[in-house]
Amino acid sequence: MKFHYLSSSERRPKSDAYIVPCAEEESGGFSYLCSLSEDMLRVVTPLEKTKDFTAKKGEMIVLYSETVSTPRIILLGFGKVHNIDAEVLREVYAKLMTSLASKEYVSIVSALPALNERAASKTLLAMMEGMFFGSYQFTKYRVKEGSYPEVYVPYDSMEEFLQVKERASILMHSMAFARDMINMNADEIFPQGFCDHILSHMPKGLSATVYDEKWLQKERMNLLLGVGQGSATPPRMLVLEWKPVKDMSDHTILIGKGITFDSGGLNMKPTGSIETMRGDMAGAASVAAVIFALAQWNVQKNVTAVMPLAENSVSAKSFKPGDVLRARSGLSVEITNTDAEGRLVLADALDWARTTLQPSRLIDVATLTGACEVALGTDLFGLFCNSDAMAFELEKAAKRAGESLWRLPLYGEYQELLKSDFADCKNASTGRSAGAISGALFLEKFVDKLPWAHLDIAGTSYSKEAKKYYGKGATGSSIRTLIEFLVA
Ligand code: BES
Ligand code: ZN
Ligand code: ZN
Repeated sequence: MKFHYLSSSERRPKSDAYIVPCAEEESGGFSYLCSLSEDMLRVVTPLEKTKDFTAKKGEMIVLYSETVSTPRIILLGFGKVHNIDAEVLREVYAKLMTSLASKEYVSIVSALPALNERAASKTLLAMMEGMFFGSYQFTKYRVKEGSYPEVYVPYDSMEEFLQVKERASILMHSMAFARDMINMNADEIFPQGFCDHILSHMPKGLSATVYDEKWLQKERMNLLLGVGQGSATPPRMLVLEWKPVKDMSDHTILIGKGITFDSGGLNMKPTGSIETMRGDMAGAASVAAVIFALAQWNVQKNVTAVMPLAENSVSAKSFKPGDVLRARSGLSVEITNTDAEGRLVLADALDWARTTLQPSRLIDVATLTGACEVALGTDLFGLFCNSDAMAFELEKAAKRAGESLWRLPLYGEYQELLKSDFADCKNASTGRSAGAISGALFLEKFVDKLPWAHLDIAGTSYSKEAKKYYGKGATGSSIRTLIEFLVA
């Protein structure tokens, strides 16, 4: 997706279409959200007398003319003007791009909607984000559905335009990178493959360390080793560091669940649940995408991304229900369900990060529980947090970023659900109650008193249906929120 600056006074370049944003009027008609030349007005005015177009959100109509500089004028509806926010802008521009994929346009000019309450730069950012979203395709294993036109946007300040463009492009490319990885086959993105893929795409300024199974053994990370022991591809831990500030008193650690395939282990997942489990490393891909964006943006914050990586597989060597494993922290864990593996790999990674990297806060991101999807559906991801201040900041960041989350309680009484007869705790509660909460409470045992947030993205990371501005497949959920949180 390419964007070009066009000074507002410049003559419009030759293009395949001119995009005119429109709003729905209370009276039933519509209004234009940008100024139009005399020539254009002549083409569009006859439409006003018909009811063929009312500028409902996402509505589009193409008009043809030989008298203006483009052969087509596309009127694009955004709904009622008081409802137009960044999310509506993203949605409509994404829809426009998706619909242009099959048309083989080379270039379009997209007029910026003039909205009283919004700064032009914010409108421009949402337009670009929407267009990036609408043009995302995962094409590694098939032919492209089409190509997208380059977009010229008339805008006042070139400097501001270029700043916004850089911001949108870094954000959206790092998201596309994560989404591609989540969509890719598990035989490419296995633990070492995940590391190789990251290392070969890593931007300047980041440093990376790949820890192998021998190191994991030395560190006594038996929960991570246990989850990975049934697989032909051994576990790894990948650590990416972005440390632009000398003073390390503020240091955020992001930890991403990196199960490169979750078969469920010996408690195997059934048909219907297993098909998308190559995406069970979405948390790890997200934290990698976040730190990629911070480095490219040169954000002056110290951040480390920690990715425990394992394939939860089935073989004669697999860890078994009933096994008791000793965590790096010393806690013994009875494995009551091998499918509750995410919390195990995170527990050792949280403990290692907390005790060796001197963080000021920890945030883990994980496709942790199906229960979270049952509770919150596929739009909202779950937030668990032991600090009200941090939870508030994350909630605000999500709003600014255009994502939705809902805070769920770390309800201490439910620690009961994790009591074991044979070990210090068990990894999964029996029964169906409070599944997302008990997953979070398990993790809490490994964070001590540090400010910590846990994002459960099991319901939001992968979309079985195309909706809003996402196609089917990986969504990149949580990336925008975390970037907003860290940039603020
Ligand atoms: N990876 C799954 C969670 C998941 C479910 C992610 C649906 C994406 C979509 C996780 O490892 C898992 O299987 N959790 C179990 C926990 C249970 C055994 C306590 C679950 O949710 O059923
Ligand atoms: Zn599982
Ligand atoms: Zn899992």
